[in-house]
Amino acid sequence: MKIVETIKEVREQVKEWKKQGLSVGLVPTMGYLHEGHKSLIDRAVAENDKVVVSVFVNPMQFGPTEDLESYPRDMERDAALCENAGAALVFHPEPSEMYEDDFSSFVDMNTLTGGLCGKTRPIHFRGVCTVVAKLFNIVTPDRAYFGQKDAQQLAVIRHMVSDLSFGIEIVGCPIIREKDGLAKSSRNTYLSAEERNAALILSQSLKEGKALVEAGEKDAAKIKKVITDKINTEPLAKIDYVEVVDWKTLEPVSTIDAPILTAIAVYIGKTRLIDNFII
Ligand code: PAJ
Repeated sequence: MKIVETIKEVREQVKEWKKQGLSVGLVPTMGYLHEGHKSLIDRAVAENDKVVVSVFVNPMQFGPTEDLESYPRDMERDAALCENAGAALVFHPEPSEMYEDDFSSFVDMNTLTGGLCGKTRPIHFRGVCTVVAKLFNIVTPDRAYFGQKDAQQLAVIRHMVSDLSFGIEIVGCPIIREKDGLAKSSRNTYLSAEERNAALILSQSLKEGKALVEAGEKDAAKIKKVITDKINTEPLAKIDYVEVVDWKTLEPVSTIDAPILTAIAVYIGKTRLIDNFII
C-alpha cells in the first residue's frame, strides 16, 4: 500500500490503474479510523479492484469555534488499518496541497443543508461538498463510500453528484456501533468515562422512537417527544436537535407516510454527538 501526499501522485497512480482497466473505489475520511470507517473500506475493497482512502482533516468544514485543532489524529495507526483492510493507496495531503492561498471556488447547496446539522453548523456542508468534489476530481473513482452515521452528509453528497453530473456511484453504508449501542465516532475519544456512559442516551432514545414507528405510530410530534423526554432524563445531555424529516427532501414531516430520517444531535458535556435511524 502506498501513502502519498500530493494530488499529482494520486493522479499518476489512478491513471495507471485505469489504463489496466481496473475499477477504483474511494473512501473519504478525516482519519482516526475506527470500525465504522473500516466497514466502508471493507465494502469498497469487496466491490472495486483498487481502493483509495483519503485521510484529511478538512479545515473548511469546521466553524471558527469548532474542534479543528483538537480533532484526533494518528496517521500511523490509520495507515496500518487501511493496509490490513486491503486499501491500495492512502491520500494524506497537507491543507496547503488542497487549498492554495488564493483558493476561491466553492460547492454550495441551496437545498438539504439548511436544517439538522446545517442549522448549528452553517458553513459545514459547503466545506464538505467542496472537499468531496475536489477528492472526486482528484481520484475520479467509479464508486465512493459514505456512512449513514452522517445521514445528512450522505443525502447532500448524493444530491451534489446528481446536480453536478459526477457520474460516480455513491454507496451508503450502515451505522457501526459499539456493543452497548453507541455509534462509533472519532469524537467519542473526547468523552470522559462518565460522559461515555451518558452518551448511551443517544442510541437508547432512538431505539424507543424507532420501536414506536415500527408499532405504527404516524405522528412525528409523538416520536420526537418520546426521544426528547428520554434524552432529558440524562443530566449530562443537552439537545441540539431532535428531528423527523423526509429522507428525500430532509424537510420536517408531521405525518409519517414515506421513508423518514429521525436524526438527533446532542451535547454530552462539550462533545457534540449525532445519531439517527432511517425507516
Ligand atoms: P469522517 O467523520 O472521518 O467519516 C468518514 C466516513 O466514515 C463518513 O462517510 C462517515 O459517515 C463514516 N462513518 C463514521 N462513523 C461511522 C459509523 N459509526 N458507521 C458507519 N460509517 C461511519 O465524514 C467525514 O469524515 C468528512 O465529512 C468527509 C466526508 C471525509 C469530508 O471531509
